[in-house]
Amino acid sequence: MKIIFAKDYRQMSRKAANIISAQVILKPDSVLGLATGSSPIGTYQQLIEWYRKGDLDFAQCRSVNLDEYVGLGASSDQSYVYFMRSNFFDHININPANTHIPCGVNPNEKEECARYDALIRSLGGIDLQLLGLGPNGHIGFNEPDDFFTKGTHRVHLTEATIQANKRFFECEEDVPAYAYTMGICDIMQAERVLMVVSGAGKAGIVKEAFFGPVTPRVPASILQLHKDFTLVADEAALSAL
Ligand code: F6R
Repeated sequence: MKIIFAKDYRQMSRKAANIISAQVILKPDSVLGLATGSSPIGTYQQLIEWYRKGDLDFAQCRSVNLDEYVGLGASSDQSYVYFMRSNFFDHININPANTHIPCGVNPNEKEECARYDALIRSLGGIDLQLLGLGPNGHIGFNEPDDFFTKGTHRVHLTEATIQANKRFFECEEDVPAYAYTMGICDIMQAERVLMVVSGAGKAGIVKEAFFGPVTPRVPASILQLHKDFTLVADEAALSAL
């Protein structure tokens, strides 16, 4: 595990974007595992800026996102498809046909989960997985539990996650109760994992996840066992260490 220190959110985003950028330059047809939420937005903005300058080319890249709310489709501005298009895909030259997100409106849970895992396999796995860190230690929507779930699955979101994510919705009641998420095995099989964390609110969970025991009660703790895991975090997020 490598920890890269950043002064603030802006520097964290720039450092993370540098790592993704090197990945895309070295392997133009990389499979990028992508995340939503507030943590990676600055990283996406930096990558867009470098793309506009002509320093980056996403034409051959493929992407797979971590998760999607059950019941939300592309037309919903709270869906993760919408998020990815408006914050990243619509501003770079990635081929939309090569961008993949679990289908929140597929009511057939078994079929959707099997389809997504087969898709990741058919792409040859993930070269670099970008992650944020949930306030309860979740990665993707792998919530604290008694066990790790390996593949893509439908998850009942915990109260802590609903509380944390209600800021993106008009009211708490609008936050979907379920989501599709990649599993722990999908994430752990990525060649490289890159996590961005910012803010004092995450300081406690950063310490627990990366300096405490590996336990499904803190899903991110499994990343301590990954062969190539890099945490880019700002001073406030690292303040409990
Ligand atoms: C998003 C995701 C989540 C977030 C996490 C942190 O696709 O899978 O695990 O990364 O909830 O969210 P923010 O960055 O908003 O604090």
